[in-house]
Amino acid sequence: MAFAIREWRNAALLYCAEMLTDSMRYVARLSARATRCLAFLFAFAVVAGAHADDIARTGGPYVPTPQEVVDRMLDLAQVGPQDFVIDLGSGDGRMVITAARRNGARGLGVDIDGELVERSTAEAQRLGLADRVRFRTEDVTRTPLKEASVVTLYLLPGLMKQLEPRFLGELAPGARIVAHDFSFGDWKPDREMVVDVKEKYGSVGTWKSTLFLWTVPARVGGLWQLDMAAPIAERMLVRFDQRYQEIAGVAMRSGASRELSAGRVEGTRVRFRLSGEGGQSDTQYEGSIESGRMQGTLERRGTRASWPATRLSEGGAR
Ligand SMILES: C[S@@+](CC[C@H](N)C(=O)[O-])C[C@H]1O[C@@H](n2cnc3c(N)ncnc32)[C@H](O)[C@@H]1O
Repeated sequence: MAFAIREWRNAALLYCAEMLTDSMRYVARLSARATRCLAFLFAFAVVAGAHADDIARTGGPYVPTPQEVVDRMLDLAQVGPQDFVIDLGSGDGRMVITAARRNGARGLGVDIDGELVERSTAEAQRLGLADRVRFRTEDVTRTPLKEASVVTLYLLPGLMKQLEPRFLGELAPGARIVAHDFSFGDWKPDREMVVDVKEKYGSVGTWKSTLFLWTVPARVGGLWQLDMAAPIAERMLVRFDQRYQEIAGVAMRSGASRELSAGRVEGTRVRFRLSGEGGQSDTQYEGSIESGRMQGTLERRGTRASWPATRLSEGGAR
């Protein structure tokens, strides 16, 4: 009975948090300052409303993601046998266990609640998955992330924001982050979808879940020299100003400068556009960056040329 009351209270708490986050998303369009205020009130309300044993878990109480949402999250991140999935705040382990059973991945779940970790480990053993998944009791802020190609989250926004610099710093470009109901704020998702959840039918609150997907962008900010090969055979300097997966900047060639448009980094893929080169329509530049080296191709007036690029200086934050 006590367990049922606790579960019900946790669900109610998370529901309130979700409602507030929805309001925040709406208000965010009106005022960033109001959003920060709401975020503070929201964090305060959650912590104040939580039971003492939840207070340390700034990621929020245990509320399991419905199984159909787990499946959709793994699909959204296109999890496959080559992936290593880390679920931060893994609850009963369903995300990592499903990633192994259904998608053939390997994985790690960490949770601050040792009882849930024991339950997850027992379930993995029962299903014969102990060699593919593991669980440990740990605060998510201490979990090394380098190994993950996919990170899954159902944590409150305050903790997500705290983890954001580590995602950008430790995960390899191209790694995917998929979150249930809460997002980062400034770092806009690459995809967002609302799913109807049959498991929630008849329950109090929304019967929908929102899923968010981010792909970790490579770091391209800084000054680059692009050497366009024959038949174009021109040198151009480009300064990329990167903000998460978006890039703006300026290209300089033969004493003239042009602003970049439609600049984006998708994992290791880079693209941007320069308008009116040689009095013509936009030129599209597409390339990839790996281990700090970038190269690509462009097409101008029907002529294609490659452009290996050399980094002259690093830019600021990603
Ligand atoms: C909403 S539940 C999600 C459980 C699971 N990921 C799922 O989707 O079913 C959040 C989980 O995060 C855990 N948690 C919260 N803050 C944490 C922290 N700082 N470190 C580790 N786990 C945390 C809670 O114990 C809880 O099990």
